[in-house]
Amino acid sequence: MAVHSFLLNAMTVPVLLQEETKHGNWNFCWGRHCKNADTIITQGATQSNHVRQTAAICSKLDLRCEILLEHRTGSEDPDYLENGNVLLDRLFGANILSVPAGTDMDAAMEETAAEIRKNGGNPYIIPGGGSSPTGALGYVNCAMELVGQANDRSLRIDHLVTATGSAGTQAGLLAGLEGTRSGIPVLGICVNADKETQEGKVFALAEKTAEFLGIPGSIKRESVVANGDYVGPGYGLSTDGMIEAVQLLAREEGILLDPVYSGKGMAGLIDLVRKGKYRKDENIVFLHTGGSAGLFAYRKTFTA
Ligand SMILES: Cc1ncc(COP(=O)(O)O)c(C=O)c1O
Repeated sequence: MAVHSFLLNAMTVPVLLQEETKHGNWNFCWGRHCKNADTIITQGATQSNHVRQTAAICSKLDLRCEILLEHRTGSEDPDYLENGNVLLDRLFGANILSVPAGTDMDAAMEETAAEIRKNGGNPYIIPGGGSSPTGALGYVNCAMELVGQANDRSLRIDHLVTATGSAGTQAGLLAGLEGTRSGIPVLGICVNADKETQEGKVFALAEKTAEFLGIPGSIKRESVVANGDYVGPGYGLSTDGMIEAVQLLAREEGILLDPVYSGKGMAGLIDLVRKGKYRKDENIVFLHTGGSAGLFAYRKTFTA
């Protein structure tokens, strides 16, 4: 089997559009409406990669960053609570508010925003995972780059496989692949939900993203496919398949996956290959979505 690598710029750049205004402020744009925000608020699970990326770009743009971390896994392991992405959040200078599992995170972000406004600030809320039509544009770009690079090397892509959680990744890919009329099917390996729930979530966001792109009604429900068989005991909780996939990629390819998303995504792909889902002559692209900083929060999982 041939292994082809694509390095996709779109995935390494958060979709934050900014320009310096006449007044020297950052005119911060997220979504259709530009706002003169001075503070960004976002949320995620304790070891969220999205949150860490947001904290990084905020430090670059000199924006205050308020992050709300939901203690979703219940892990009391000090590495989970303070290492990995949390360490980086702190390094980037973000202000962290930790809240218990089950907190209404959108309401909690609104409360934080109200508090900041009361003190004269101008906050802007980015939804969890950046999974809004604007956030999904990062993966629309990614789809376009992927198709472009594959065309340049005359490589036919038969399947695209990736992890799917808050839905922005898969929704953006679907919209981008539809927009380029590539015909490449996408399989999302779920990291927290069952197949039906995930497909519903991805479809709703893919439709909105397509509308945002000016191609309304272009996403077919049947093109939204997720597999919920590899979640294991729950979001952020380890599975044997994930551990095997992370170790295999590290030892055979020198590639670091992450324990929560790409590790479970790759575990799904490995199992489906073993079960004969794909023909030997098919080209499968696994989209590595990053997140290796999360490995340091799972030290015991890999050293036990
Ligand atoms: C490394 C990594 N891969 C995949 C995903 C899943 O993407 P999405 O939440 O857009 O479905 C995430 C989500 O944060 C992630 O951090």
